[in-house]
This record gives sequence, C-alpha cells and structure tokens, in this order.
Amino acid sequence: MKQPNVIAPSILSADFARLGEEVHKVLEAGADWVHFDVMDNHFVPNLSIGPMVCKALRNAGIKAPIDVHLMVSPVDQLVDDFAQAGASLISFHPEASTHVDRTLQLIRSHGCQTGLVFNPATPLDWLQWTLDELDLVLLMSVNPGFGGQQFLPLTLDKLKQVRAAIDRSGRPVRLQVDGGVKPDNIARIAEAGADTFVAGSAIFGQPDYRAVIEKMRSAIKNP
Ligand code: DX5
Ligand code: ZN
Repeated sequence: MKQPNVIAPSILSADFARLGEEVHKVLEAGADWVHFDVMDNHFVPNLSIGPMVCKALRNAGIKAPIDVHLMVSPVDQLVDDFAQAGASLISFHPEASTHVDRTLQLIRSHGCQTGLVFNPATPLDWLQWTLDELDLVLLMSVNPGFGGQQFLPLTLDKLKQVRAAIDRSGRPVRLQVDGGVKPDNIARIAEAGADTFVAGSAIFGQPDYRAVIEKMRSAIKNP
C-alpha cells in the first residue's frame, strides 16, 4: 500500500554558503524530509557533503527526518558516521557494497531506517532478497552524480514493477523517486506508484519554495 506522500527537497541544489538557512526555509515552506546527497568522486563523478554537515544541521536545530542518500563506495564506514551524525534514513546502492545484507543490518543496528537505491540500468533482482529488510526503495530517474538532469521515462515502468512487489509484500515500504522530478511530471510519477518524491533543482531553482511544493502536492493529491 502507498504511504502518505512525502516531498524531500535535495539540498544538493541549495545555496551551500547559506545551507542552514536554506534548510530551515524549505521546511517552513512545507517540505517533509531533507534529502541529503553524499557523493565521493569514486562511485559517482562528483563530490558533495559528508557527516560533519549532517551533524551541523542537527546542531542548527533541524528536527525533520534527514534522508541520507549514499552514492559512495565502500559504504559501511559512512553508515556508522551518518548514524552518529543524526541521519534518520540511510540508503545506498547495492553495487557499492560488497555485502548488501550486512550493510542493511548495520543501518538497522543504529536504529536508522533502511533504503536500497536502483540506478536506471540496475535490475530489480536485488529486491527478491532484500525487500523484507527495507523501509524504502529508491529508484533513480537520472544517472546519479548531478542535480538538474532530465527525468528518464523508463523509470515509470520500473516504478510500476516495484509498486506491485511492495504491495505483494504487504509491508509499509516507501517507494521513492529521485532525479528530474518537477511540478509538471510529478502526477505521472505518482500514478506509476511513487509516494516519496525527491526534487532538487525544481525547488531550489525557484524563488518561492512554498509555491513549488504546493504545486507538487496538489498535483499528487488523491481526489
Ligand atoms: C542525483 C541526486 C539527486 C539530485 C536531484 O545524483 O541523487 O538527489 O540532487 O536533483 P534534481 O531534482 O535537480 O534532478
Ligand atoms: Zn539523491
């Protein structure tokens, strides 16, 4: 069953020189979660932010869930570090971990929620043996590494397949989509089965965060 909709702005597109202010502002504008993209210039061709920045946001009084998307290899050391730094949910790419089940157990052992991330060309086979351990499945709708890319339409079919697998499982697993999500395509993405929406450039690229978030929310509101 679909979970209540969540809008998770990706702070990769925020103004890093004023990050605390930006995060407060986007949450006040109605965002539900903070999507925190971690890139290592090894698993993906870009370098972003690490656990110290997550901790700094917690110290600055951010109480909302912090949804840490690890695009790093290896994974496990950073799971420990982000759990200490106040992450709520930690997701990682199965190709990046040598022992996927061990990494999932490690995330759980810290009391964090678990997420597994599928690149556009990554097959869904991993789900057969992991779904029972997951709180969230994240489908990448762009190749990871950069904000501001175009949504890949192949994601819609993939979303439908994962939606069916989650529904069969009967477990309350969230289905998240990340990359190129905008007010004008979010309805189709929701219809395909997503309930958790990451958006970076679509939100932080506009002057009025509240207006974009409201537009997205009303496009996916159930009638
Ligand atoms: C891409 C990141 C995304 C990205 C989304 O590697 O995982 O979270 O910031 O940005 P937009 O919404 O601009 O595609
Ligand atoms: Zn992301």
